[in-house]
Amino acid sequence: MFATPFLDLPHLTQAGGAIHLPGSKSISNRVLLLSALCQGQTLVHDLLDSDDTRVMLVALKQLGCGVEHLHEAAHPAAAKDIGAVASPGSSVRITGLGLADGRVQKPAAAIEFFIGNAGTAMRPLTAALAVMGGAFTLQGVARMHERPIGDLVDALRMLGCHVDYLGQDGYPPLQIGSPQLKLDAPIQVRGDVSSQFLTALLMALPLAAEKDILIEVMGELISKPYIEITLNLLARFGIQIERQGWERFVISAGSRYISPGEIHVEADASSASYFIALGALAGTEKPVRIQGVGAASIQGDIRFVQAAQQMGAVIESGPNWLEIQRGVWPLKSIDLDCNHIPDAAMTLAVMALYADGPSTLHNIASWRVKETDRIAAMAQECRKLGATVEEGPDWLRVHPLAQGQWQQASIHTYDDHRVAMCFSLAAFNPDHLPVRIEDPQCVAKTFPDYFEALFSLSRTDTACIPVICIDGPTASGKGSLASQVAARLGYHYLDSGALYRVTAYAALQAGLALEPDNEMAIAALAAKLPVRFSGEQVLLGSQDVSDAIRSEEGGMNASKVSTLPAVRTALLALQHSFQRLPGLLADGRDMGTVIFPQAPLKVFLTASADKRALRRYKQLISKGFSAKLDTLRADLEARDARDRSRSVAPLTPAQDAMQLDNSHLSIEQSVAQVLDWWQRRQGFSTLN
Ligand code: DC
Repeated sequence: MFATPFLDLPHLTQAGGAIHLPGSKSISNRVLLLSALCQGQTLVHDLLDSDDTRVMLVALKQLGCGVEHLHEAAHPAAAKDIGAVASPGSSVRITGLGLADGRVQKPAAAIEFFIGNAGTAMRPLTAALAVMGGAFTLQGVARMHERPIGDLVDALRMLGCHVDYLGQDGYPPLQIGSPQLKLDAPIQVRGDVSSQFLTALLMALPLAAEKDILIEVMGELISKPYIEITLNLLARFGIQIERQGWERFVISAGSRYISPGEIHVEADASSASYFIALGALAGTEKPVRIQGVGAASIQGDIRFVQAAQQMGAVIESGPNWLEIQRGVWPLKSIDLDCNHIPDAAMTLAVMALYADGPSTLHNIASWRVKETDRIAAMAQECRKLGATVEEGPDWLRVHPLAQGQWQQASIHTYDDHRVAMCFSLAAFNPDHLPVRIEDPQCVAKTFPDYFEALFSLSRTDTACIPVICIDGPTASGKGSLASQVAARLGYHYLDSGALYRVTAYAALQAGLALEPDNEMAIAALAAKLPVRFSGEQVLLGSQDVSDAIRSEEGGMNASKVSTLPAVRTALLALQHSFQRLPGLLADGRDMGTVIFPQAPLKVFLTASADKRALRRYKQLISKGFSAKLDTLRADLEARDARDRSRSVAPLTPAQDAMQLDNSHLSIEQSVAQVLDWWQRRQGFSTLN
C-alpha cells in the first residue's frame, strides 16, 4: 500500500497480464454479518481485507462473535500460474451468535461501535442491533455523520425499535435500545436514497420472523442489483424471501439463519471496472485477464462489462474470469442510464475522456450521498485534467480531451477510494503527462494494493519512469537521504554501493582475492549475483549478509572491486532493472553520470571529511563497535581518493547535478530540500 501524501503516476502506455482481484466489499460485509447471525461456525474464504471489512470484524468481535483468521495461503498455485499480484484474500472462521431457537445471543453490557466511513457496516449493523436489542451506540468519522440514515431509522421505529439520534436528526451517531416489536403492519422503507436501507432490513428481520413480515418499498428502488446480492446471499444462509416486483418483500414466519458451513467471496466487480477500463484504454500486447469474477457473478456491477463493450472494449468471459483488449479507438461516446451500475459507472466518466464525443451518465443521484459527493468530485477533477464537464442533480456529461488538450493535474481524492482508482486511468493520456493522485492510501477502503496491481499490469517507456540520483562520497548520508525520499514518494530504492559490497563479499567467499588478475572471474560472479533486497535486509542467495557487508572492511573491499571495469559492466543490467514503476531513488557514485544519465533530478551530496568521519564514528559506537576517529577519517579519505581517481566511472558530480552540502543540515532538512527540488521539476504544486 502507498502510505505517501501523494503518488505520481508516470505516463503509461501499455497493459497486459493477469490479476486476481480482492473480494467484493459488498459481499464480504454481508457474508460476515450473516455468519454472525447464524448458529455455529462459517468458514469465509477470499474475504476482502480492507478498512470496511475490518470495521465489521471489530464490531462482530465486540458483539461476542468468534473471529479466527486462518493464515492458509489461498490459492498459492493459481496465483503463481497466472502471475497474479493482489492476493486473493484470506479466510476467516466466524462463530455466530445464533441460538438453537433461531434468535441471537444478546451482549450483556453496553457497547460503543466505531464504524469509520463504512456504509456497508453502518446500515446493516444498525438494523440488526435494533432488532436484536441492547444498549449500543454507533458512530463514525465526520463524513459518516453526513451520510443519511433517517429512512432506515424511520422504518425501524415503525417496527417498534428504539433508535435515537445523538447528533443531527437523520444522521449518525445513533443510540440503540431494546425494541418492542410490532410485526402486524407492513414495514415501509424508502428505496430511492440508498438501497442499503432495504438490505439492512432484509438481513435483520429474519431474527424476528415469528409471523410473516411484509416490507414495502416507498419510491423507486435504486441500485436493485445490490438487493439481488442481498437476496442471493440470504438464500445461501437459509432465508428465502418472497419478492413481489421491487415493491414488496415477504419474510415468511419461522425463517431462520442456517450457516452454509463454507462460502467463497467473489472478487469485486466494481474493482474489476478499473482493469476492464485498463484493457480498453491501453495498448495491449496480451489481454488484461481478471480472475475471480466473471459472467456468473451475482454482483450488479458485472454489467459494467456491457457498458465497456458499448464504448468499444473487446471482452471475453468465463464463469469467473474476464479478458479485455482494446477494440475501437478512440472509444465510442456513451449515453447511459447508470442506475444498475452506480459504483462502476464512475469509471465510465474517466473512460469518457478518451471517447469520440461527449458521454452522458444518467440516473446517478446516489453518487451525491456516497463517500463524497461523487458527481461534484468527478466533475471537478475531470475539469482539472482540462475537460469540459456539465453536471445536474442526477447526471454528468464529460467531453473528451484530444491530444494536446490534457493538463497535468494533481487529483484530489476526497477520501474516496473510487475517485483515486478512477483517475489513475488518466495516466494513459496521449500527452505523455504524469498524474498525481493525492492521499493514495484511500484505496484501502476496498483495494489496498490497487496501485501495485496497476503497476504490475502496466508498461511505459523507460524514459517516463523517473529516477532521482543521489551521488556522493563515503558517509555523506546518501543512503538515509535516498531511502527517506523514496519512502515519501512511494518509489523504489537502489543502494548501488551494496551491489559492490555484495560482489566483494561473494568473491572473497569464492576464494578470489580482490585483485585485477581476478577481474574476469569476479565480473562473472557479479553478472549472476543472486542478491535480493528486503527492507533493510540484503540477502545473497538465502544468506543474510546485511551486517557482513556493511562493515568498514566491507566498504573498503567494495571500493577495490569497483575499480575493475568488467565488474562495473557486469552490474549494469542489474542496476537498470531497478527502474520500475512508479519511480526510483538511486544512490551511489555514478548514478547520475553513468547509470542513469537521463535522470530528471541528480543530487551530489557532500559534507566535510570531519563531519563524515564523526557521523560514521557515532554510528559505529552506537552499534557497539569500537572505532577511532582519526583512523576512520584516514580510511574514508583513502576510499574517496580511490573512488575519484579510478579510470572508469570516477566519483564526480554530473554536470547537471544539484550540489547539496549537508554538513550543517539535519536529515529532515536534506530530505525537504530534495523533495522541494523534485516538486519544482514536476510542476504539480504550481499548476493546481
Ligand atoms: O556507498 P557505499 O559506501 O556502500 O559504497 C561502497 C563502495 O562501492 C564505494 O567506496 C565505491 C563503490 N561504489 C561505486 O563504485 N559505485 C557506486 N555506484 C556505488 C558504490
